[in-house]
Amino acid sequence: MPSLPSTMKAVVLPEIGPSSKLQYTDSQPLPTLKPGQLLVKNAYAGINYIDTYFRSGLYPSAVGYPMILGQEAAGIVADVSSEGDTLGFKTGDRVVWIAQGGYAEYTAVPAHRTIKIPEGLSDDQAVGGFLMGMTALSLVRESYPVQKGDKVLVHAAAGGVGLLLCQLLRDIGAYTIGTAGSPEKCKLAEQYGANVTIDYNANTNWVEKVKELTDGNGVDVVYDSVGKTTFDGSLDSIKRKGKFVQFGSASGPPPPLNIARLSPKNISLMRMTVMSYIVTREEIEYYGNAVLNLIKDGKLKINVHKAYDLKDAKQAQDDLEGRKTTGKSLLKL
Ligand SMILES: NC(=O)c1ccc[n+]([C@@H]2O[C@H](COP(=O)([O-])OP(=O)(O)OC[C@H]3O[C@@H](n4cnc5c(N)ncnc54)[C@H](OP(=O)(O)O)[C@@H]3O)[C@@H](O)[C@H]2O)c1
Repeated sequence: MPSLPSTMKAVVLPEIGPSSKLQYTDSQPLPTLKPGQLLVKNAYAGINYIDTYFRSGLYPSAVGYPMILGQEAAGIVADVSSEGDTLGFKTGDRVVWIAQGGYAEYTAVPAHRTIKIPEGLSDDQAVGGFLMGMTALSLVRESYPVQKGDKVLVHAAAGGVGLLLCQLLRDIGAYTIGTAGSPEKCKLAEQYGANVTIDYNANTNWVEKVKELTDGNGVDVVYDSVGKTTFDGSLDSIKRKGKFVQFGSASGPPPPLNIARLSPKNISLMRMTVMSYIVTREEIEYYGNAVLNLIKDGKLKINVHKAYDLKDAKQAQDDLEGRKTTGKSLLKL
């Protein structure tokens, strides 16, 4: 390994605000390792909607401000802490991680949040499906364990998580109704496994359409990451004794709920986060390796919308928030 530089390229968020707050620099000091950490030289970082929540202040930052956004990246281990348990990782290992600070050339990450990338899988494909793949997999395996024949409603079905959900549900043998914001996005979601799609921008009466498609009964489960604009419709789309899995706020947070609204149909409601499914080392190994192997074996196709230059992180977030993307966006370091 060549010796490490003292500074690096990064995109720094000095304070909460619009995307114009994101500042590119080529003189950010390299992070210093804490016990149990690895220094990873990132090749590609994943862009996730959650990055925009930390930027806007919708979610509080655990590390305060200024902060470096980005929850995942793939690259090469450049240094290993001499203290703490680093789980046998060595410099030169090719890894993908889920932690904090991916919009940068180097990130110090806990070894226990890091997984080796299997031979034959590229860095961009690995990070392209890592956080989102673990999300999609835990949604269909744990939040509501989907069975063959279940009727499932997936909002934003052409998005990053959406396209992965469509594929996993197709493999399980579910009947997937996907919603998306344009005819092109609907077509893409169908190519990735949705049985039928509804353009919920053109068809504001999408709840009626869902009822029609389910013989008037509604779906077994709805996976809703859109939030504010879909929440009420999602509740109406679920069958008696069905499940509502709410896991995101792309259109804003859902309104406060009077839980009495769940009783007419005995609906179960979960506010899911993947982070609470990957707390222990065993859990992150289970989901991380499962996802990487599915991608490597060609069972999960990663649709990379674009790999943006690090300097264009603002544009990448604008495109995501402006509903201009499908699938996964990356930053190239
Ligand atoms: N809980 C968790 O652990 C977890 C983990 C990962 C992701 N998520 C959530 O899953 C969702 C998808 O994440 P992603 O990164 O894959 O993003 P994405 O789905 O690729 O992008 C968001 C999509 O939401 C739809 N949308 C509907 N109304 C919108 C609005 N007013 N503004 C912006 N977008 C709107 C758009 O698709 P259409 O144009 O087709 O409507 C847009 O493309 C996000 O809500 C994210 O927070 C949650």
